Amino acid sequence: MQFGCESQTDKNLNVKKINIAIDGFSSCGKSTMAKGLAKELGYTYIDTGAMYRAAALHAIRNGWMTKEGMDEEAIRENMGQLDISFEKDDKGDQNTYLNGKNVENEIRSLEVADGASRISTLPFVRTTLVSLQQKMAEKGGVVMDGRDIGTVVMPNAELKIFLTASPEVRANRRFKEMQDKGENPRFESVLQNVIERDQRDTTREVSPLRKAADAIELDNSYMNVQEQFDWALEQVKRVKS
Ligand code: DC
Repeated sequence: MQFGCESQTDKNLNVKKINIAIDGFSSCGKSTMAKGLAKELGYTYIDTGAMYRAAALHAIRNGWMTKEGMDEEAIRENMGQLDISFEKDDKGDQNTYLNGKNVENEIRSLEVADGASRISTLPFVRTTLVSLQQKMAEKGGVVMDGRDIGTVVMPNAELKIFLTASPEVRANRRFKEMQDKGENPRFESVLQNVIERDQRDTTREVSPLRKAADAIELDNSYMNVQEQFDWALEQVKRVKS
């Protein structure tokens, strides 16, 4: 796994590398913005949601997480055997690996999304993954997206962005993504999933989704991907100038 880069200068902006935190609700376009910025700047993209998803998949596979509940003790006892990493494929797309196996597709299901939202409420899961994320960001030059990046993981990030959009707009985006992958979800289930995750993410006791005091908020409900990218790049330039 290659995190951080050797050089301390940007690909396009010849100055010291910064860290960029992008937080927001589920299906808000965080990863699209983060990936776009990382590519443009030659930075490392870190998808922290994928890490919680991989932890959930591990628990589901082992029977520690079912629809009925979680076996917290078993999850805690087995945290040590959880090995999560990222690797780029031939096309340059980043894939999530769980204990050496590519799980990128599997972690994108609604079941795992729901599991990730539940397992991320466990303090010991957060502590483990947060310290891994902080290690990944040590050298700078990281664009990291999640829920607690600006508040907990990288409180000193030079640029913090907080994305919002209405639940209907976000469910619609997710719905289309799933259809593009050949899945056939019911829109109501996708919307319900978005609403339930919002509720859990914002009300959990440990590191709830919150906008950091020094984050810049963007409601992207009516913006296309290019408009969002242009806006984000302007923020990077502003911070670096
Ligand atoms: O961004 P995502 O949908 O892939 O995230 C999956 C779940 O993981 C989400 O419901 C909340 C949780 N999560 C978190 O608690 N903290 C993060 N930094 C990232 C994700």
